[in-house]
Amino acid sequence: KQRVLTGITTTGTPHLGNYVGAIRPAIAASQQEENQSFYFLADYHALIKCQEPEKVHQSTMEIAATWLALGLNTDNVVFYRQSDIHEIPELTWLLTCMTAKGLMNRAHAYKAAVDANRAEGEDPDFGITMGLYSYPVLMAADILMFNANKVPVGRDQVQHIEMARDIAQRFNHHYGDYFVLPEAVVDDHVAVLQGLDGRKMSKSYGNTIPLFLPEKQLKKHINKIKTNLLEPGEPKDPDTSTVFQIWQAFASEEQTAEMRKAFEEGIAWGEAKRQLFELINGQIAEARERYYELLANPAQIEVELEKGAEKARAYAAPFIEQLRHAVGIRKIG
Ligand code: TYM
Repeated sequence: KQRVLTGITTTGTPHLGNYVGAIRPAIAASQQEENQSFYFLADYHALIKCQEPEKVHQSTMEIAATWLALGLNTDNVVFYRQSDIHEIPELTWLLTCMTAKGLMNRAHAYKAAVDANRAEGEDPDFGITMGLYSYPVLMAADILMFNANKVPVGRDQVQHIEMARDIAQRFNHHYGDYFVLPEAVVDDHVAVLQGLDGRKMSKSYGNTIPLFLPEKQLKKHINKIKTNLLEPGEPKDPDTSTVFQIWQAFASEEQTAEMRKAFEEGIAWGEAKRQLFELINGQIAEARERYYELLANPAQIEVELEKGAEKARAYAAPFIEQLRHAVGIRKIG
């Protein structure tokens, strides 16, 4: 069987980008016979960017409820909270000792923070924690702990999967073939979903459209998507339009072709946005109801996560024992 694994950082409310980039393809993959899926809430990762305990906690619930509301079948999928698997931070240390510092110097997230400091004339290391710096090692541990071979992610995460491969190779070279080399699976069809301002939709840019906004607010958010000043009747370029890009991520090929034509014929922005709202709302309305029911019933979410933790640890606990033995951490005698 193919092992498919992916996680979402618990620092905010799940948005359309997380849905089309990660959750939707992951749920589809979990329904295929040949896959065995591991999906988790990356709450240790959250601490890298967020020092607000309530926010991390609330986000953990919201992301868990999102997966469940969208129909994740937890009988077939190992669905867990990263921090319930104590073997992961332990593996992180074993891998940290195998990770070249130069590799971490090249990580995008760290480099972006350094560049931002430089641009503002600050000390390059200002505000940068070791958590941010060695974030790819924690992510490698998430993946290698379960020997996942496929990791469905958005394009922004591909570098991290490549780093996980590098780290795994180095470990295997030193200690023997313990790790499978993981591969990123990126849905090219979807690309990186744009946010309200046309940049990548991201919690850190504050330009997201949360997936399960109440209907009225969803409509309002969609109306806020930035457009150029073309009037109704003026032809519009679908390929530079955020409205069209999001449309494409939700529509069938036929619907996409129709919208392309409507753009060329000068559909009014208000009308295009109305249709986008109808399209998205139609696809998520049922799940949204389940989502609010689950949020009102956190004990039910907790039961699912504990069941998942037990299943995940059934893999992680014996494997970490092997790895400890491999590096020389063994009982005496
Ligand atoms: P995170 O929480 O930033 O994002 C979760 C997933 O959503 C995808 N994504 C997008 N896809 C398309 N368009 C967008 N605008 C968009 N925004 C986000 C991301 O690519 C990602 O797949 N470090 C990871 C979480 C993580 C992880 C892992 C993933 C921790 N350990 C192990 C896979 C395997 C992160 O911060 O994703």
